[in-house]
Amino acid sequence: MSELNKIALKVLSNGKGILAADESTGTMTKRLESVNVPSSSENRLLFRETLFSSESMKKCIGGVILYDETIKQTSSSKKSIPELISDSGAVPGIKVDTGAKILTGSPDEKITEGLDGLRERLKEYYKLGARFTKWRGVYIISDKYPSKLSIHSNAHALARYSALVQECQMVPIVEPEVLMDGNHSAEDCFNKTCEVIKKCFEELIIHKIDLNGIILKPNMILAGASSDKKISNEEVAKLTLKCLKDSVPKEVPGIAFLSGGQSEKEATQNLNLINKHNDTNFIMTYSYGRALQQSALKFWSKNTQNIKGTQDVFNHRANMCSLAAKGKWSEELESK
Ligand code: 13P
Repeated sequence: MSELNKIALKVLSNGKGILAADESTGTMTKRLESVNVPSSSENRLLFRETLFSSESMKKCIGGVILYDETIKQTSSSKKSIPELISDSGAVPGIKVDTGAKILTGSPDEKITEGLDGLRERLKEYYKLGARFTKWRGVYIISDKYPSKLSIHSNAHALARYSALVQECQMVPIVEPEVLMDGNHSAEDCFNKTCEVIKKCFEELIIHKIDLNGIILKPNMILAGASSDKKISNEEVAKLTLKCLKDSVPKEVPGIAFLSGGQSEKEATQNLNLINKHNDTNFIMTYSYGRALQQSALKFWSKNTQNIKGTQDVFNHRANMCSLAAKGKWSEELESK
């Protein structure tokens, strides 16, 4: 078993998943301001540290994706943040892209940047304790999008990024996110997501990526957020599995879904059904941002010194996600 494969399995196995706490300062500011908490670096650290020192970290969280600011911060217990995470048994990870910018040639779409100087930044993150990384490509759906240009250029960037990350002995999370914004059908989401993922693997193979040492982070197959043709959770699970079976090479050890704007419960319920029906060898788990943090953030915002109460809320959410990663979640457990 390669070292990279070992890291991927440590992050994903035994009902564990990933806590995506890698919001850029801009995004984190939006999240904090939405609950009326000022976005100071102290507050950003306090909320994150509260989650990272929760009891559920040991059982439910195999990896945490950090942002550049957080990986360099020190917790109130004087441990560095990566140390705090490693001590709970989870693997520290880091977002290394520098964001999605307008795609020249198709200005309604985005291309993710961050390749320049990446090799040097990776070495620094490795020294700080990171053992896996994240890069997100975003794609919109409409009758003419995603364009060939967007599918091709984002896949190429994801492959270049992955090659540099593996060279530095870390596991790349490959995240092609087909957004749920819009009124498209689930069938459109299925077709476009399959096309996007297939192109990513075509490029990953050209760039000689060890597929055994990556984690794929895709969207689930859903009807657009403003579509009037919603499909059932069962259908979401079946279409998602079909898309991944058709598009992902067998060597990939695991798939960790993004929540992408689904509610906490919806993201949990869909993951649970995916695991109930999972007839592949892929581990299917979570790499949720909003669907792990939303309730905890809301609770914390009422009294930012209530650490224990916030951790209880987070622990419940993480436990629900972990059960879903084993196909053992149920509605009754949710409301306990
Ligand atoms: P969400 O689960 O909130 O979509 O965030 C996951 C993520 O890391 C997006 O890049």
